[in-house]
Amino acid sequence: MTHKAAPSDTIAAPDATVTVERLGAQGDGVARTDTGPVFLPFTAPGDRVRVTWAPDRKGRQTASTAHIETAGDGRADPVCDHYGRCGGCRLQHVTDAVYADFVRDKIHAALSQHGLGDTPLAPPRISPPGSRRRLVLAARVRNRAVQLGFHEARSHRIVAVEACPVARPALVALLPTIRAFLADALDDGRDQQATLTLTETDTGVDLTVTAAVDPGLAAREAAAALAEDHDLAAINWTTDAAPETLVRRRAPTMDFGTGAAEIPLPPAAFIQATAEGEAALRAVIADACAGAHRVADLFCGLGTFAVPLARSAGVRAVEGSRALLDALDTGARRSRLRHPIQTEHRDLFRRPLLAAELAPMDAVVIDPPRAGAKAQAEALAASTVPVIAAVSCNPATFARDARVLVNGGYRLERLQPVGQFLWSAHVELAAVFRR
Ligand SMILES: C[S@@+](CC[C@H](N)C(=O)[O-])C[C@H]1O[C@@H](n2cnc3c(N)ncnc32)[C@H](O)[C@@H]1O
Repeated sequence: MTHKAAPSDTIAAPDATVTVERLGAQGDGVARTDTGPVFLPFTAPGDRVRVTWAPDRKGRQTASTAHIETAGDGRADPVCDHYGRCGGCRLQHVTDAVYADFVRDKIHAALSQHGLGDTPLAPPRISPPGSRRRLVLAARVRNRAVQLGFHEARSHRIVAVEACPVARPALVALLPTIRAFLADALDDGRDQQATLTLTETDTGVDLTVTAAVDPGLAAREAAAALAEDHDLAAINWTTDAAPETLVRRRAPTMDFGTGAAEIPLPPAAFIQATAEGEAALRAVIADACAGAHRVADLFCGLGTFAVPLARSAGVRAVEGSRALLDALDTGARRSRLRHPIQTEHRDLFRRPLLAAELAPMDAVVIDPPRAGAKAQAEALAASTVPVIAAVSCNPATFARDARVLVNGGYRLERLQPVGQFLWSAHVELAAVFRR
């Protein structure tokens, strides 16, 4: 276990036993030494760790945790055989309480960087094991030998997995069958790589294969058999071109908690990673938008928030992906929602909704990608919108944009940390701003 270099011109500290005090933003344990903090992967708060220093491949002095002398109170037994190699769950070795603190602290640290560290944070809503409903798997196939799993951390190497404790059991149960399917579908003797997106929708599992080669007859026959034998909703295949649906036994659809909508899922489309996480985000948005008659949902995707909002308000839903927006439009028209959803295809980085367009809105929902929404935050800061519900998958860009809104006169009133990627360093949140 080796990590984080001291700068090359620093003299290495003598070997020492240190105590891990907390987890850093990437999930490594952090301990103090005479030469500053060291970051020790796979350690937990309270661990007493023997730190030795050695040059890394570039000759920099690097702390390595050769030995955990005493396990701390923050340590738990990892539940997965693949822990340590699989890049997905690097924090399985900490207790639930430590993990919840990590989620909260990561958001608090980002807010503090922008002078918003006194924002009250609700207890994190962490999705439980067995809840991840969207998996992106890597595969390698040669001469019918299939490796199917996740990438190692910071590597293209695949860790073949038989089980995955964070995933929905229905998805895990499909792994052996999908392995057999790939052996048949990519059986041309060459070294083939593929990415598989598995999504548990309301109407069954949707599988999308992304490969370098077009599907041949063998792939089509294998897909038909897989879907039939395991009751999959649909199987799609894509190279660089538009995805082709190989089998469709039912349209994969989402109702986003309404019981009244059928929004078709385009192949491999983004949805929130767990139903529990989606519900936690939606609850904050529903509270913020209570009583609103007109709402804008910016970066609306497939309508995760627009669809439930349309039960009580007219929604202007804006998004940069044509495929997602068309699916939302089609689905909303045939769903039993009380109010219309008016969709708009627009690049909100280059053309944010401006103050005049925002003026009729009683509330705005905003859920940008990891880069955040700087231009849109600036336009909102200049608007008269009374309430903004913001969802973010990146606390750093959220805090930057929150500062813009606060400078524009908004109060950051409520912040709900959300952990949909259990045991990873990936953290999400929903927040409410008012003026
Ligand atoms: C984090 S997702 C949120 C989607 C949706 N709110 C949901 O919960 O499913 C961010 C969305 O922003 C869209 N997006 C990314 N860049 C964009 C841009 N420049 N303008 C408009 N939409 C963009 C993506 O297509 C994606 O649907």
